[in-house]
Amino acid sequence: MIDTTEKLEGAYMTKEEISVLLNINLPGIPLFKKGKVRNVFDLGDKLLLVASDRISAYDSVMPNGIPDKGKILTQISAFWFDFTKNIIDNQVISANVDDFPEEITIHDDVKKILDKRSMLTRKTDSIDVECVARGYLSGSAWREYQKSGSVCGIKLPAGLKESDKLPALIFTPATKAASGHDENISEKKMMDILGTEVGTILRDKTLEIYNTARDYAETKGIIIADTKFEFGKLNNKIIIIDEMLTPDSSRFWPKDQYKPGGPQPSYDKQFVRDYLISIKWNKEPPAPRLSEEVVKKTRQKYLEAYQMLTGKNIL
Ligand SMILES: Nc1ncnc2c1ncn2[C@@H]1O[C@H](COP(=O)(O)OP(=O)(O)O)[C@@H](O)[C@H]1O
Ligand SMILES: [Mg+2]
Repeated sequence: MIDTTEKLEGAYMTKEEISVLLNINLPGIPLFKKGKVRNVFDLGDKLLLVASDRISAYDSVMPNGIPDKGKILTQISAFWFDFTKNIIDNQVISANVDDFPEEITIHDDVKKILDKRSMLTRKTDSIDVECVARGYLSGSAWREYQKSGSVCGIKLPAGLKESDKLPALIFTPATKAASGHDENISEKKMMDILGTEVGTILRDKTLEIYNTARDYAETKGIIIADTKFEFGKLNNKIIIIDEMLTPDSSRFWPKDQYKPGGPQPSYDKQFVRDYLISIKWNKEPPAPRLSEEVVKKTRQKYLEAYQMLTGKNIL
């Protein structure tokens, strides 16, 4: 019933041991989509989003996972969906397994596996633009700025350093290019694709949600340097979907170590990236196994982010 690709290390274990869930099938329930991290099941007008413990870096999924990562991501998302519900309506029906349809939870072992890592949501027509908000100059924005002095068509002041705080928040949409890498587009191009009415809502909501979340996270010791949202249409209404303000969809930086003028230590993936660089992986698939130490330290960072943001100690 449960398809764990690995049986020994990293396999799902029913005991109290730390467990890794790499993949899951629900017999009789069709798969809607399998992403890098989530398996999404189709329940007619609803979806079941199940976050696995898969971790990706440089666009590849690693062969081994990070124990509890899927639970942490789902709990962080659930926290933010609730936190921002007055700004925008969201996909969430329930993140509590007891509320899930019986056809899914009839088997106790399945219910236990889904617990904490799953979200019952409304099914939308997802809008194919990644809505990115940035408060700091990093990643693809920093690369673009060095070449052109602007980002997604937005002119920025001269002389900014890598990771500098931007004078004002910027909205830098992207489309999924055929290569799998996201491609930054101008706001105008986005408006051309989606129409001004939808485009304006996406831009304004993206900036408002990010602004609110960033201010809050900063009081908890985390700088959210940038983030990506996805939106969907439901009966002509736009709601926010997918995951929200997690370390996977955002750049989280520890505030007490912030030092502009270079890259910042990433909250969650730094150990993974450092490791992959140290073993000189050429970034071509297949990705190499992460060492036990890297897995352990990475799990600790995800947990720390969850605890700092939500104030909760246990998952
Ligand atoms: N409420 C929703 N309605 C429709 N599609 C959704 C909804 N929530 C998430 N999705 C889609 O499900 C997938 C989630 O899987 P994920 O592992 O995050 O994929 P990716 O590798 O594309 O990041 C994404 O393609 C996302 O657009
Ligand atoms: Mg995703």
